[in-house]
Amino acid sequence: MLNNKLYIKTWGCQMNEYDSSKIADIMENKLNCKITTSIKDANILILNTCSIREKAQEKLFHQLGRWKILKKKNPEIIIGVGGCVASQEGKKILDRAYYVDIIFGPQTFHKLPKMIYKIRKFKKFLIDISFPKIEKFKFFPLTKTKNVSSFISIIEGCNKYCTYCIVPHTRGKEISRPYKDILLEIKNLSDQGVKEIHLLGQNVNSYKYIDKKNKKCYTFAKLLILISKIENIKRIRFTTSHPKDFSDELINVYQKIPKLVNFLHLPVQSGSDRILSLMKRRYSILEYTKIINKVRYIRPYIQISSDFIVGFPGETKSDFDDTISLILDLDLDMGFSFIYSPRPGTPASKMKDNINILEKKKRLYLLQHYITQQTKKFSLKMLNTIQIILVEGISPQNNKYFGKTENNRIVYFMSKINYIGKFINVKIIDSYIYSLYGEFISICNN
Ligand code: SAH
Ligand code: SF4
Ligand code: F3S
Repeated sequence: MLNNKLYIKTWGCQMNEYDSSKIADIMENKLNCKITTSIKDANILILNTCSIREKAQEKLFHQLGRWKILKKKNPEIIIGVGGCVASQEGKKILDRAYYVDIIFGPQTFHKLPKMIYKIRKFKKFLIDISFPKIEKFKFFPLTKTKNVSSFISIIEGCNKYCTYCIVPHTRGKEISRPYKDILLEIKNLSDQGVKEIHLLGQNVNSYKYIDKKNKKCYTFAKLLILISKIENIKRIRFTTSHPKDFSDELINVYQKIPKLVNFLHLPVQSGSDRILSLMKRRYSILEYTKIINKVRYIRPYIQISSDFIVGFPGETKSDFDDTISLILDLDLDMGFSFIYSPRPGTPASKMKDNINILEKKKRLYLLQHYITQQTKKFSLKMLNTIQIILVEGISPQNNKYFGKTENNRIVYFMSKINYIGKFINVKIIDSYIYSLYGEFISICNN
């Protein structure tokens, strides 16, 4: 029997990272695959791709070109392309990279072991980029982990169809995982020492699962309450949530569950109602502001991060200024910002885009300047305060222990004692924009 050694390269969001870790689990379990970080040792190469912004195809073929050389030397190597570019381009990938063996999508990677078996037997290219109904989760073996913080996907796909976005086309329709399966997976993780859980989905707060047996509807808020009852899970995070689905029921959960961190990523994209409407985001700035105010009423110290797109077709200087004002008025903490990138087949890609690239870059630069100032301000405020962190490990960069605060800052600290997996109090003694340095004070009582 062949010794299977798998190398996976992942691009894109946390969902893709999560999928790659599941691909590794499935391949280990079903094909007795060893996972390697050294490409030279591998005989199965998987590329898990992302197509959210431009140059995705170019990046893909560039990478495949390198792998082609490896395959020339060793024709036994199997090359698989998965993720959102695979889903978007499908068989067209073969036109430029005939040596690819398997093309699979974000909803079909559980079929990889079978596909690899077939490739070896019949030596024929295979493709499956379909969207079978939430099938893949049934194939996940129970995760083994040494981590103290873990991702878990609760909902797949997206139904929002924002006019600029490729995700609904590549990941398919929104499907919520059964809540019982989610709880089981989290319980399994917590039994292995996981203390912090990070719920994932393109739109976690549109989670809705109807249990046909007890005729109950489980919303995201209800799911959070159930998760919070798992005793050893002490912190709960989630990304990404959508303002349209940020219900009062969800806001009230911030009162009920102290385990929900004081940090919320709620992408707004633009500060202009006109642009929001062109983007088909389905909320106004007033509605967005109301959500933030309501959450802050319950949690006055919660920090808010957001995503922004600059240079959307038709964005005027005044629309852009509205975005900057929003950052300052709402006192946002962090942000991911991107220049608008036309995506194939999306409605926005057909809109007239009359802003030149230099202007777009200028706007991006300005926005990033303001948001970085904000992040810096919040980080500086933490200087000399005592913060609780969950110690996650030792950083390979500086050999110091590190952990995260509730508001997503990494804190490095020195210690002779290993506190990995423990919540500890640290005094912040130095502050950079995204990271902090601390001194151990005490172990928390939990
Ligand atoms: N589901 C999430 C975001 C998913 S994609 C939400 O709706 O908030 C992550 C981010 O990529 C988006 O928030 C957006 O800011 C950015 N993005 C998505 N499509 C883009 C495009 N065509 N051009 C530039 N940025 C884009
Ligand atoms: Fe894309 Fe909009 Fe769905 Fe987010 S909500 S994944 S931006 S379509
Ligand atoms: Fe990219 Fe697909 Fe995630 S397009 S951002 S990998 S959902």
